[in-house]
Amino acid sequence: MSDLRDKILGLQRHLENRIVGQQDLIRKMLITLLASGHALLEGAPGLAKTKAIKTLAQSVGGAFSRIQFTPDLLPSDITGSDVYVAATGQFEFRQGPVFANLVLADEINRAPAKVQSALLEAMAEHQVSIGGKQYELPRLFMVMATQNPIEHEGTYNLPEAQLDRFLFYIKINQPDAAAEHQILELVRGEDKACGDDLKCWQDEQDDLKFKPLQIEEILAAQQEVLQIHTSEAAENYLVELIMATRQPQKYTPALAGAIRYGASPRATIALDKCSKICAWLDGRDFVTPEDIQAVVYDILRHRIILSFEAEAEGLTTDAVIQDILKAVPLP
Ligand SMILES: Nc1ncnc2c1ncn2[C@@H]1O[C@H](COP(=O)(O)OP(=O)(O)OP(=O)(O)O)[C@@H](O)[C@H]1O
Ligand SMILES: [Mg+2]
Repeated sequence: MSDLRDKILGLQRHLENRIVGQQDLIRKMLITLLASGHALLEGAPGLAKTKAIKTLAQSVGGAFSRIQFTPDLLPSDITGSDVYVAATGQFEFRQGPVFANLVLADEINRAPAKVQSALLEAMAEHQVSIGGKQYELPRLFMVMATQNPIEHEGTYNLPEAQLDRFLFYIKINQPDAAAEHQILELVRGEDKACGDDLKCWQDEQDDLKFKPLQIEEILAAQQEVLQIHTSEAAENYLVELIMATRQPQKYTPALAGAIRYGASPRATIALDKCSKICAWLDGRDFVTPEDIQAVVYDILRHRIILSFEAEAEGLTTDAVIQDILKAVPLP
């Protein structure tokens, strides 16, 4: 297949050298980028959420901005605002940090709802409205937001209804022992000069070979992934999975009454697009059920709203998705 794919795989290797033991996170970030979507990353402190996003931004030519969400942030701190310019005696629009190709919205649940909404609206509309005027965001526009699940004091939950605007809701797991050793090796190497260390030398060679991707290349790859074929059988399977979130009792009696709202058509579209991207990344020109399963958790976990009873029983959307995967027959 194309050399665009080679370049994306090169980017993947580059990220894997920088963020170790988080292959799943890296792949999901690349899928988000290729699907021109946005991702919400959730994980405990210190799991390299910020580092992963910053490294991706550095590996892609284009403007990067970081917004640290705090309780006193204002919507205009994100979108920008009209400011008075004394020299001309006129108001001029001054762009906010959302006008970038890659935006890191760090600790998004630390700012109140009106601020979160300003960003979520920009994500959905691909534009910002200020003073009755619309301002287009760049063609390559990807927001990656982070939130930390263990702190609840002084945080504001993202509005459930607007979570749909995130293509993926990625949960980051703790690295295993082998990865922890690699992290130590990597960070020690980053802390002191490399010296004669062979591993460091190899990494440096890899880095010298690695050239940041151009925006045009990513836009072209976003088009190329759309060419991947989804068979009728695979499409039926995909749609069945979505239907099962809306009428779970039809598929498994155990889930009767567990779901208040099932997934929206946005989820269907996301599942279609992201499974194509999985196939493309693996060098296939057709989608398999495994491609669909590989992204289904990250696409559905924030789009299924559980019933109050199910929540009270401690059921999670991940458990529901697992049950649905078991209940819907493979094509
Ligand atoms: N998998 C990893 N690979 C490489 N470095 C890592 C990895 N995990 C953690 N680190 C190191 O741990 C430190 C913390 O990472 P980072 O600041 O990105 O975490 P975070 O998830 O954003 O944390 P917080 O939720 O507190 O903001 C960084 O210095 C990074 O180098
Ligand atoms: Mg961070």
